[in-house]
Amino acid sequence: MTASAMAPATVKPPFWLLAELTYRCPLHCVFCSNPVDYARHDQELDTATWKRVLAEARALGAVQLGFSGGEPLLRDDLEELVEHARGLGFYTNLITSGVGLTAARAQALKRAGLDHIQLSFQDSSRELNDFISSTRTFDLKSRVAAIIKDAGYPMVLNCVMHRFNLPHVGRIVDMAERMGADFLELANTQYYGWAWHNRAALMPTVDELRDAEAIVMAHRERIASAAGAMKILWVSPDYADAKPKPCMAGWGSVFLVVAPDGLALPCHSARMLPGLAFPDLRETSVRSAWFDSDAFNRYRGTGWMNDTCGTCDERDRDHGGCRCQAFLVTGDAAATDPVCRKSEHRGRIDAMLDAAALAAAQRADSAAAVAPLRFVPGAAKSAGLIFRGDATSLALSVAADLPTRSSTREPDLSPTSP
Ligand code: FES
Repeated sequence: MTASAMAPATVKPPFWLLAELTYRCPLHCVFCSNPVDYARHDQELDTATWKRVLAEARALGAVQLGFSGGEPLLRDDLEELVEHARGLGFYTNLITSGVGLTAARAQALKRAGLDHIQLSFQDSSRELNDFISSTRTFDLKSRVAAIIKDAGYPMVLNCVMHRFNLPHVGRIVDMAERMGADFLELANTQYYGWAWHNRAALMPTVDELRDAEAIVMAHRERIASAAGAMKILWVSPDYADAKPKPCMAGWGSVFLVVAPDGLALPCHSARMLPGLAFPDLRETSVRSAWFDSDAFNRYRGTGWMNDTCGTCDERDRDHGGCRCQAFLVTGDAAATDPVCRKSEHRGRIDAMLDAAALAAAQRADSAAAVAPLRFVPGAAKSAGLIFRGDATSLALSVAADLPTRSSTREPDLSPTSP
């Protein structure tokens, strides 16, 4: 560990543990948060090792546990892990696409002690949901929402928002209410991982974001007074807001992510950052990974910050923003988050927003009818999207092996259907 990466004396134990049980997933979402080279990391911890990791994290003080993926229901030891976690005293949350969640399995997970389920939708319409995930899953997800409620779970519906579904935001709120969601998370796309490669196609205009936000606020006001009303979280579109988000509530501060192969990470995206050796929990204890590793200490606290961030009044609120975003846009993970108006690279963000506005104006002026997006062969090509899939992951991995990693370099990868 370098002197600059010593753990500050005030480091607290992790509060949240995100257990990414597998990178395998039946969906092919264009904004998937798994690393773009996930196909190269196909090892998964076995049941006994996961149990040890959970026990060590709990002993350290972690309280909240998310079982995530990929699709965690693809692990047939999920019930066993939930039961183990519950016995340790975790509050457990299943983060799922819904594929594989039958009524019988929902009951089995309930018996094992599962507390909470977060179900993803890609849109309120079958056409767009199925297009964005490149699977015919809308009807299945609708059935799964009913299964979750019938089994008595608190339910979060999560929908990642982007240019294609922002105009539907009111209908997404209506759908979530109809389904009895307790909480709706409208997560504006964060541009890393697969979304970074698809940013030109997914990026909305600032006006589209403001229009959608106004609709969300009106719905919030409408339902705020009702007892037991659904809560709505609008995740800040930080590119447009020009305000760094307090990513992960600060690097190595609250969140511990464990990747399927046992790598301990401060966020789900961090393994793509160069120059950091993330601890492997097959060989290292959770305590040592959290407190002692250079990777977790590198961007903790404020000691690593440059003058712009280190003297900013917002530094204790935003913790310097997002390191993954800084790397992707500037090539330097220690740079000021480029969404910030104080960043010397803010122009790159504005250029992306300007390009989105120009593309929207061209679409509006175009005499050609806009073909509806449907889950049909070749649709990806016309929408300019790269879908998550093993073949595209491997192609992107090869591109990442090129010697010069640069924010402006893109792999030679034509949009393809999976
Ligand atoms: Fe990695 Fe923000 S996603 S630090």
